[in-house]
Amino acid sequence: MKRNTWDKSQLKWREFKEEDWKSVHEYASQPIVCTYQPWGPNTIDDSKAFVDQVIKDREIDHRTRFAFAILYKEKVIGTGELNIDDAVNLAGVISYILHPGYWGKGLGTEVANRLLQYGFKEMGLHRICATCDPGNTGSARILTKVGMKKEGRMRENLYMKDGWRDSLLFSVLEHEWTDPF
Ligand SMILES: CC(C)(COP(=O)(O)OP(=O)(O)OC[C@H]1O[C@@H](n2cnc3c(N)ncnc32)[C@H](O)[C@@H]1OP(=O)(O)O)[C@@H](O)C(=O)NCCC(=O)NCCS
Repeated sequence: MKRNTWDKSQLKWREFKEEDWKSVHEYASQPIVCTYQPWGPNTIDDSKAFVDQVIKDREIDHRTRFAFAILYKEKVIGTGELNIDDAVNLAGVISYILHPGYWGKGLGTEVANRLLQYGFKEMGLHRICATCDPGNTGSARILTKVGMKKEGRMRENLYMKDGWRDSLLFSVLEHEWTDPF
């Protein structure tokens, strides 16, 4: 069987709808998805609260949170997020989460590429960064593949369920980035 049998044209994103909490819950309730996250595994209330908060955050003036539902063949399979953390200095942060049933097909890389394209082309950002757990080799690989450079290791910047955690910091600048699409 071919490893990469997914059809790129079937990967889409859109704004979240209230009823998407069920699809979010399908992946966010799984311990494997939350291994490197400070949240989860989600209860039903957690998944509902996540979608409600995303919807509220997009209604505010000067929106800074752009969290999109990722769809494959019209099914919500994850979240891709761009946050403008410094509007004055045109800086943003990306993150992504996918349902484990869709891992290993290049979709994570595709989502990261689309988030960078959105940040640089649509939002006019100058710098985009991302962080990941030092043990999250899949995410670190994605960030390198999409053209980000490792800036270093932040010490104990995140409090997890089992204590303080370091994070690797990656970034890419507008003039370094090549649009892959
Ligand atoms: C991280 C995540 C998005 C990866 O998604 P994915 O669709 O499987 O990633 P891709 O298929 O695009 O893989 C990208 C690269 O990472 C590698 N990779 C993916 N998962 C890996 C793993 N667990 N261990 C080692 N390498 C891995 C792939 O082999 C590929 O490298 P290659 O092109 O050199 O072969 C997914 O595992 C996920 O949602 N994890 C939970 C949430 C999370 O950790 N998000 C990131 C927060 S920083």
